[in-house]
Amino acid sequence: MDNTEMKQIQWFPGHMAKTRRLIAANLKLVDAVVEIVDSRAPLSSRNPEMDSMTKGKPRLVLLNKSDLADDRATQMWINYFRNSGAEALAVDCKSGKGLKNVLPTVRTKVLKELMEKRAQQGMTGAAVRLMIVGIPNVGKSSLINRLAGTKRAKVEDRPGVTRTKQWVKLDNNTELLDMPGVLWPKFEDQDVAVRLAFTGAISDDILDIETLAMKLLSYLAGEYPASLRERYKLELTGEESSLELLENVGRKRGMMISGSEINTERAAITVLDEFRSGKLGRITLEMPPQREK
Ligand code: G4P
Repeated sequence: MDNTEMKQIQWFPGHMAKTRRLIAANLKLVDAVVEIVDSRAPLSSRNPEMDSMTKGKPRLVLLNKSDLADDRATQMWINYFRNSGAEALAVDCKSGKGLKNVLPTVRTKVLKELMEKRAQQGMTGAAVRLMIVGIPNVGKSSLINRLAGTKRAKVEDRPGVTRTKQWVKLDNNTELLDMPGVLWPKFEDQDVAVRLAFTGAISDDILDIETLAMKLLSYLAGEYPASLRERYKLELTGEESSLELLENVGRKRGMMISGSEINTERAAITVLDEFRSGKLGRITLEMPPQREK
């Protein structure tokens, strides 16, 4: 995609610098960092500076929304993060699936060395402190509500909205630091922005809705053709342009304007809504980069 196609995304470098300072200042208060990402786009839904900001701290990556992602791809992503030095788990904060493994994994894997040291020193009762980080909409509030077992008010992830640092007690000896400040994804990378717009994590007005849906349909026709055949009864030849795919969806759904013209805007909204709500099946939008051997 070229620059002219993409509308300017609002970008707040000053807020990012503030968040970076907050994280740096608070890292010394915690034993490990829990980073939450979207399983459908695990790299695109990360802050690009996360690795360098949390360098040296034990890390657990939670691949959230795993209910919406392709299981095979999620397993590949778990291996990818493990190979990069972090522990990783798939979770689903909507149903709670996988969440019972989180705190045991922190103790037995992520903080294994610290726990062994504390055991030698007779300090096994000391609290474990974790910092939770993630870009907006990945499911931080849902995770905290699930782990803390109480419904906490959703705090807005918006620059300019005052938010203070909060410690949340998860069990008798685990405390979670919910960081204020907003961590942005790598907006300036247009492929990243498009994947996040597909998931609804960022506003879909970065592109006009039809262009966005056409890009999603092209990806699906290439990687998940069965889901398009099943949901929209498309007969795919592999030769269709993205506009033809969108028109075919509209035609199959009877979305017509004045008899013969297809309402591609309605078709686009439908495709995006159905993807976001999982009706197109479990789909992953990016695969782990191949490592050089
Ligand atoms: P945030 O604090 O990181 O900004 O994210 P938040 O927990 O508010 O979650 C953002 C949206 O993602 C919410 O949907 C939430 O329900 C949904 N969500 C979180 N975890 C999961 C998951 O594992 N699977 C699925 N399918 N959805 C998840 P929403 O539409 O904004 O709100 P609502 O539907 O909860 O009212």
